[in-house]
Amino acid sequence: MDKIIIEGGYELKGEVTVSGAKNAALPIMAAALLAEGTTRLENVPELKDIATIAGLLRHMGARVELWPGRAEIEVDQVDNPVAPYELVKTMRASVLVLGPLLARHGQAQVSLPGGCAIGPRPINLHLKALEAMGAKITLDHGYVNAETPDGLKGTEFFFDQPTVTGTENIMMAAVLAQGRTILRNAAKEPEVVDLAAVLNRMGAQISGAGGDVITIDGVTSLKATDYSIMPDRIEAGTFMVAAGITRGRVLIKGASPGCLTAVTKKLEQAGLVIEEKGPDLMVTGPERITSVDLKTKPYPGFPTDMQAQFMALMCLANGLSVVTETIFENRFMHVSELKRMGADIRLSGNTAIVTGVPFLSGAPVMATDLRASASLILGGLAAKGQTEVSRVYHIDRGYERIEQKLSALGARIRRIRA
Ligand code: EPU
Repeated sequence: MDKIIIEGGYELKGEVTVSGAKNAALPIMAAALLAEGTTRLENVPELKDIATIAGLLRHMGARVELWPGRAEIEVDQVDNPVAPYELVKTMRASVLVLGPLLARHGQAQVSLPGGCAIGPRPINLHLKALEAMGAKITLDHGYVNAETPDGLKGTEFFFDQPTVTGTENIMMAAVLAQGRTILRNAAKEPEVVDLAAVLNRMGAQISGAGGDVITIDGVTSLKATDYSIMPDRIEAGTFMVAAGITRGRVLIKGASPGCLTAVTKKLEQAGLVIEEKGPDLMVTGPERITSVDLKTKPYPGFPTDMQAQFMALMCLANGLSVVTETIFENRFMHVSELKRMGADIRLSGNTAIVTGVPFLSGAPVMATDLRASASLILGGLAAKGQTEVSRVYHIDRGYERIEQKLSALGARIRRIRA
C-alpha cells in the first residue's frame, strides 16, 4: 500500500488550482442514467471514487469514457440494474443510482451500504421517500430491491433530517415521475444545486434547489447535456488550512468563495487573512493561530467534511478550542492519530476539546477515512520532522494529486508506491 512521507515545517507559497467537486461529480454521473444520448462532463476530478462510479455505471451496461478532467456517459439501456456489495462497500455514494434507475428503468437492486468509519450512515430516508412515491421496496440478503410497477408518482415528502445524497436521490427519482414532488427540509448544499442545474439542462423542471423546499414537476424524458462540474469547496478549504497551518501565503484559484463563507469566517477568527479576488482566494497564515470553537452543521453551516482539517489547525492554536460534530457520530478517527503527533485532544461524546500545543512532531500515522487523512497530512506539513501517512488510498478517493499540488507549493511531500 502506498504511503505519503512529509518533512514538516515548510511554509507553503504560490498558487494552486482547485479541482472539480467529487460530491457534485458523483451524483451528476449517476444522473446520466436518466438521459437519452451522451452526457459530456468537464472539470471531472481524477479520483478513485470517480473511477468507482464509472465502473458501476459500466457494470449496468452504460458506456463510460474517462479522460483527465472529462467524462462521457451514454446509457442506451440498462441490462443489469444492480449496484453490488463489492462496489457499494467501497463507496457509499453508489446508492445514488437508486433514484435514477427506478425513475427511468423501473427497477433497481442496490446493496445496503452498512456502517463506515464515520458512523452508521443509514439510507432509511431515501427509501421512505421512494416508497411515498409508490416504489415497492423489500430488503433481502443485504440488498434493497426496488421496483415501480405503476411508475413513480409525485408526492410531498418531509426529510426528518436534511440528507445530501437523500435529497439528490429523490430529486433524480422525481424528475421523471408523474406530477409534482415537493421536498421539504431538503439539503441545501451547493452540490445539490449543481445537480439540479444539470438536470434542468437535461429538460427537468426543478425549482428551489439551494433552499429547504425543492419542487420538481415530472417530465416524460430527459436529453443528455454538456456540463462543467463545480469546484470542490472542501479541497479549497483544505488548502486554506494548509496555508494557515504552515504560516504560508497561497492563492487558491477557482475556490468558489461564495460556497465557503462559514469556513472563511472560522479561519479568519483563527487569525488567517483571507482576501477574495473574484473566484480566487488569497490566504495568508498568521504568526500565531487563535483557538476558536466550532460546531458542524448542514450547509450553509460549517461542513463536517472540514472538521478534521480544522481540528489539525486548532492543535497548534493558542488556547483551548471545543469542536462539536453534529452530523456524524463517529467522525473523530483522526483524533488518536493527531495525538500520536503530540496533539492534546480530549474526547467527550461528540465533542473534542483541543488544547493547542507549541508544536506537533512527525510520526507514523494511519489514515482512516478521507477527511481524517487530509487532517494528518496538514498536521504533517506543520510538524517538526517526518510524518509517514499509511493507508493513503483513503485520500486518493477525494483529493486529486494532493502530493503534487502540495509540493508545487513548496511542501516536502512524496509518495512511496508499494
Ligand atoms: N441520515 C439518516 N438517514 C438517511 C440519510 C442520512 O439518518 O436516510 C443521517 C446521516 O446518518 C447523517 C445525516 O443524516 O447523520 C446527514 O447525512 P447525509 O445523508 O447528508 O450524508 P451523505 O449524503 O451520506 C454526503 C457527502 C459526505 C458528507 C455528507 C454531509 C456525498 C457523496 N457525500 O454524504 O461526504 O460528509 O453529505 O455533508 O455527497 C466526504 O466527502 O468525505 C463525505 C463523507
